Amino acid sequence: MVPGKYSEEMGMSRDIDEETKQRLASLFQMKSIEARIAENMKSIRYKIGVISGKGGVGKSTVTANLAVALALEGYRVAVFDSDFHGPSIPKMLGVEDATLEVTKDKKILPVTGPYGIKIVSILYLLPEKTEAVIWRGPLKKKFFDDLALYTQWGELDFLLFDLPPGTGDEALNLAQSIKDLAGVIAVTQPTEVSALAVAKSINFARKTNIRVLGIVENMSYFVCGDGKKYKIFSGNGGEMLSKMFNVPLLGRIPIDPRVAELGDSGYSLLVQDPDSEFSKEFRNLVNNLLEVLEGGESR
Ligand SMILES: Nc1ncnc2c1ncn2[C@@H]1O[C@H](COP(=O)(O)OP(=O)(O)OP(=O)(O)O)[C@@H](O)[C@H]1O
Ligand SMILES: [Mg+2]
Repeated sequence: MVPGKYSEEMGMSRDIDEETKQRLASLFQMKSIEARIAENMKSIRYKIGVISGKGGVGKSTVTANLAVALALEGYRVAVFDSDFHGPSIPKMLGVEDATLEVTKDKKILPVTGPYGIKIVSILYLLPEKTEAVIWRGPLKKKFFDDLALYTQWGELDFLLFDLPPGTGDEALNLAQSIKDLAGVIAVTQPTEVSALAVAKSINFARKTNIRVLGIVENMSYFVCGDGKKYKIFSGNGGEMLSKMFNVPLLGRIPIDPRVAELGDSGYSLLVQDPDSEFSKEFRNLVNNLLEVLEGGESR
């Protein structure tokens, strides 16, 4: 069928006005939400998710301190707190009472935290900090996409996504909406129970074609006043996962009771005590991560 002939037969004019032409053109050019997010994030070098199959293993602690460690090395860093049920990054970075600004042209300005770290968190959108919101899956996706799309991220070296435990909506949103993710870091505790739960989230990453950059074992040991290292939790979960999935063990972070205290006040132990084993391990983690990102070795 000749389209022109068809329109004539249907009594339609062959000449469409300029406005309609433009509307049709923009319709054909309309991009998917993923493409628009990628465009908004095009000046971010590495986008990295911090995941774990298990709750309370220290994902947010690792995310917050990794952000600080990277910023202290001079990198431009932002954190996208994607934990819709327990957003804890603003508190850990000491900017819980800040507010997200929205400009006249509907752009979101991230909160600037310590060492210039930019922070976007769902916490800032809740009317009350302790409010429990019942999030339905599609609403989470909408909020995640809106924050990713309308935030003015600017030029960044790293954007870290802090996720809730498991392979639920948030992990899926990350996989679906952020197409050029550099990869994920999986956090585990030393115990086998923890490692097996984390193995599930690594399998999830593999299934969704996300690169696993490596494993971080948190709470690996405790350094006593006499300098001796004591293992508090049994097992070698980090090493076990590293071998199981053939990905590097990026770091083994010790337990330091000051982490929890400082984490509640927004100060990082990395600055408070740079010579601590905890701080040294985070610097080590940064070096290993950079090697993986620049060398491209793990899958
Ligand atoms: N290496 C560490 N030494 C001491 N305390 C730690 C360490 N890592 C984490 N913690 C503490 O353990 C608790 C849980 O950590 P965190 O909130 O980071 O875990 P999470 O995996 O993000 O939890 P959730 O699954 O609820 O998001 C916090 O109180 C934190 O301060
Ligand atoms: Mg957390």
